[in-house]
Amino acid sequence: MATIDWLTRAQRISQRLERLAEITDEPGRLTRTLLSPAMTQATRLAGRWMEEAGLQISSDFIGNLIGQTPGASGKQVFLIGSHLDTVRDAGRFDGALGVVLGIELADIFRSGSDLPFSLWVAAFSDEEGVRFQTAYLGSRAFCGLLHQEDLEVSNREGSLRALLAAGQSQIDLPTGVVSGNQLLAYFEVHIEQGPVLEDRNLPVGVVTAIAGQSRFRFNWTGKAAHAGTTPIPLRRDALLGAARFALQVENACTRFPGLVATVGELNVSPNVSNVVPAQITHSLDVRHQDDFVRAAAVAWLGNEADHIAAERKLSLERLTVQETASVACDQKLTGELAAASKFVTGASLELPSGAGHDAVILSQLCPVAMLFVRCRDGLSHHPDEFVQLADIETALRTVAKFIERLGRAEGGT
Ligand code: GLV
Ligand code: MN
Ligand code: MN
Repeated sequence: MATIDWLTRAQRISQRLERLAEITDEPGRLTRTLLSPAMTQATRLAGRWMEEAGLQISSDFIGNLIGQTPGASGKQVFLIGSHLDTVRDAGRFDGALGVVLGIELADIFRSGSDLPFSLWVAAFSDEEGVRFQTAYLGSRAFCGLLHQEDLEVSNREGSLRALLAAGQSQIDLPTGVVSGNQLLAYFEVHIEQGPVLEDRNLPVGVVTAIAGQSRFRFNWTGKAAHAGTTPIPLRRDALLGAARFALQVENACTRFPGLVATVGELNVSPNVSNVVPAQITHSLDVRHQDDFVRAAAVAWLGNEADHIAAERKLSLERLTVQETASVACDQKLTGELAAASKFVTGASLELPSGAGHDAVILSQLCPVAMLFVRCRDGLSHHPDEFVQLADIETALRTVAKFIERLGRAEGGT
């Protein structure tokens, strides 16, 4: 590789992340969700950067952006990517770092002539699942794993199918952009979103596996009543049922070591200060590295919910909106990545991911690997999320070394 000015490149990544962070659906805080105006604008901008890096761009009906190396037909694809959607009031690194860093790598390996594979970059449109509570809609569509019935998923605005129709998107199912045969590997750089790397004083870490997750929507129904006149024993207060259940969710995390479970979204109806709550809809997100433990915890929580509903004379519906098994990263890729990390930083730390990533979906088509980058205070899904410039530079160097090593391992020059 010719001499590379790593710092200048890291600075460009950082500036681009700042520009993306200005593109939001909600003034004053960073929020970009599937197929929103801000997503369209951010995706266009990333597309321009991809073109400047020599990639040929295309997008699909669900808003994914793909940059391909031109004129490299016949070669297998090494796909680097992450997502451009965010949670509500997000930080600027979750997802966007992997996309922007991938574009920088495409620029570094611009000719790609000495690589035995073709380097593509993906910016997926829905990893967080904020709009429909079900994550990975973007990468599932990319992989051809989104089916007609998945388009019926809905929120208060309507279904995904209606949203696509309103945007006049030509729904193109179930064809994915690439087949598994074409893909040599999928690789994602992501902020750690936890405190381990900071604690070990390391800039990057190699991901071993990604935890499985289950997501549900719960709907508790009681009866609205006057807050001043209805005695407590005569009430059917849906909020109290849901609140009691939320505490059992916390208890489950003690009962099943290693479990993390969260009630993160809650809607109260009629949501009026002097009316007993009649209906509660809330999310439930359950994760564990071990799928058996997750399944056992989900069953236990289901029983607890039924018990609370019966005790409080509430009716209860629950809908599974997502089930993804835990995914192991590929050992060969992980070995090359660990060697690259050792070369660049003098150390290599392996760690699992509690957060979900598009790699979970891509693993159904090809081997996957991930590199984590240290973040301040382990903070993520928060506007104060922060990665220092020196760590961006180290991540860039590490991945460039990884690609070089992989090129040699795959028979390149
Ligand atoms: C994605 O950030 C997730 O793990 O929820
Ligand atoms: Mn996230
Ligand atoms: Mn993410």
